[in-house]
Amino acid sequence: MCGIIGYIGKNVESVILDGLERLEYRGYDSAGLAVCRQGNIQSFKAVGEVSKLKRTVKFCDDFGIGIGHTRWATHGAISLENCHPHFSQSGDTALVHNGIIENFEDIKAQLSGMQYYGQTDSEVAAKLIGDKLSISSLRKMIKKIAGSFAFAAISKGGDSIYFAKQKSPLYIAKKDDGVMLASDPSCFAGFSNEYISLDDGEYGRVSISNLTIYDSNDKILQKQPQKLDFKFVDEEKKGYAHFMLKEIYQSRLTLENIIEKYSGSQMQEVLSQIKSLNFDRIFLIGCGTAYHAALIGQYYLRQAFCIDIYAAVASELQNECLPIDESSLCIFISQSGETADTLAALEYCREKGGKIVSITNTIYSTMAQKSDFCLPLCAGQEKAVASTKAYFAQCLILYIFTLFLQRKDYITSLKTFKNQIDYGDDFALGEIADFISKYQKVFFIGRGVDLITAKEASLKLKEITYIFSSAESSGELKHGVIALVDENLPVIVIATDEHLFKKTLNNAHEIKSRGGKLILFTTLNIDDDTAACFDKVIKANSAQKPLLPLQIIIQLQKLAYFTAVKLGNNPDKPRNLAKSVTVE
Ligand code: F6R
Repeated sequence: MCGIIGYIGKNVESVILDGLERLEYRGYDSAGLAVCRQGNIQSFKAVGEVSKLKRTVKFCDDFGIGIGHTRWATHGAISLENCHPHFSQSGDTALVHNGIIENFEDIKAQLSGMQYYGQTDSEVAAKLIGDKLSISSLRKMIKKIAGSFAFAAISKGGDSIYFAKQKSPLYIAKKDDGVMLASDPSCFAGFSNEYISLDDGEYGRVSISNLTIYDSNDKILQKQPQKLDFKFVDEEKKGYAHFMLKEIYQSRLTLENIIEKYSGSQMQEVLSQIKSLNFDRIFLIGCGTAYHAALIGQYYLRQAFCIDIYAAVASELQNECLPIDESSLCIFISQSGETADTLAALEYCREKGGKIVSITNTIYSTMAQKSDFCLPLCAGQEKAVASTKAYFAQCLILYIFTLFLQRKDYITSLKTFKNQIDYGDDFALGEIADFISKYQKVFFIGRGVDLITAKEASLKLKEITYIFSSAESSGELKHGVIALVDENLPVIVIATDEHLFKKTLNNAHEIKSRGGKLILFTTLNIDDDTAACFDKVIKANSAQKPLLPLQIIIQLQKLAYFTAVKLGNNPDKPRNLAKSVTVE
């Protein structure tokens, strides 16, 4: 994974650091930059966040040529040696890389006489490109590499940035007095309102006066810039201790944005066009939290239609022998629109002839560009790694989509829900967070749609608290999992469906008889005797049935948040994770 940036112009260090901050969602294990001025290259590196790099950099406002990188480690430990930029043998060429070089060990074995200071695949690329950077050395390098890459390289005394793209995103913006390359066009906001999007196999060089792009057959290409209709808003915490908490509290705002956008004629037209496509089965595809939204979408659509509807994990889609063809509607769900597994699944569905719809928060993303239709999430920038308001929005868009296909009014229902959203009682949630923070493992159980919420709540808890957690189907407990229940296991029971509650309650009793601690999250009105079965109860406001999973997840997101804070973790930047997962 990782984010890369290149810049030619004045104030190189500060422009690159600003860009790296925008790209930090792609990884924050280490960050580095290299700048060439008056024939010399100077580099700065730091383990950890871009803010740490900032403290080591010597700023200069003179004209220069620079590259920068923010890392999510794939090969090699999180260390200064493995931090980008990487250097050729003599140090005359500096290179940053986003992607994975699958054959780096073979290349290393073939390259004789090189001294390696680290363990990354990217350093091998720097050694391979060599000390004399040119189009020819770049071309030779990329033809030898198997895997994914976006490269930017500079050399001592050079006037250009050399670049190449294969399966990792790379964009260029060029003005008379500056050039910028980046993994994400959001870096261009404030610099240029036009950019060029590179396609796989393309490579070239850019200087202040010249841009040359070659295609994969080594022919020079003329590419037209596209408009960047985007303002970068550097979100602030605005009084919240963390972005995650702020974003949970932005659920209502997100809903308001969705109501506004999806009551307008533009989205009605997009939805009508999707509806008129000739499809007889629907696939809903995503990763992690977005996959859980796909499961919610599957629940909505299966309640409404008798056609095949199937939610799939993007990374497994190609292994599942699914009947994807010209009559399939393939809906891809992704906050970032850049998740490599989801993009690979999209390509696969496209090859099979499927019609492609994306539901994404990032309308200029690779996913949005590669789709026939895009349904925006309207959630605004999500900075915290753990997805909260975007999940809320993904489920809402799938709800809208289902009702639109049914020719039903969704706006009235969403407006009603807006006034019902329940952020819960912080004191009560804080007490439960205190309680579960003392345990090493937690289970979430539920039936029907509550099992999906259990999966999402469990993912949220584990990713930011590092407590082992698992979501189990209430009915399946007795078929094996109950063997793990004892007095050291808190079990969070999720119950929003009154028709399933009796059975779930029986399962809760089975846990209690074996010493397990029980916490109930419900939207149902329960009597005192029932409440007495549980060690703790959280009761959220009721809402229309299809929206209950959204009502209850908000409080479970907050539970994960409070537990992480209690344990002293930074919920915004959990260990080992990145906001956008751009490797398969
Ligand atoms: C969990 C989380 C991840 C993402 C997943 C997909 O809180 O954020 O599980 O949902 O990596 O990311 P997107 O939605 O960007 O495709």
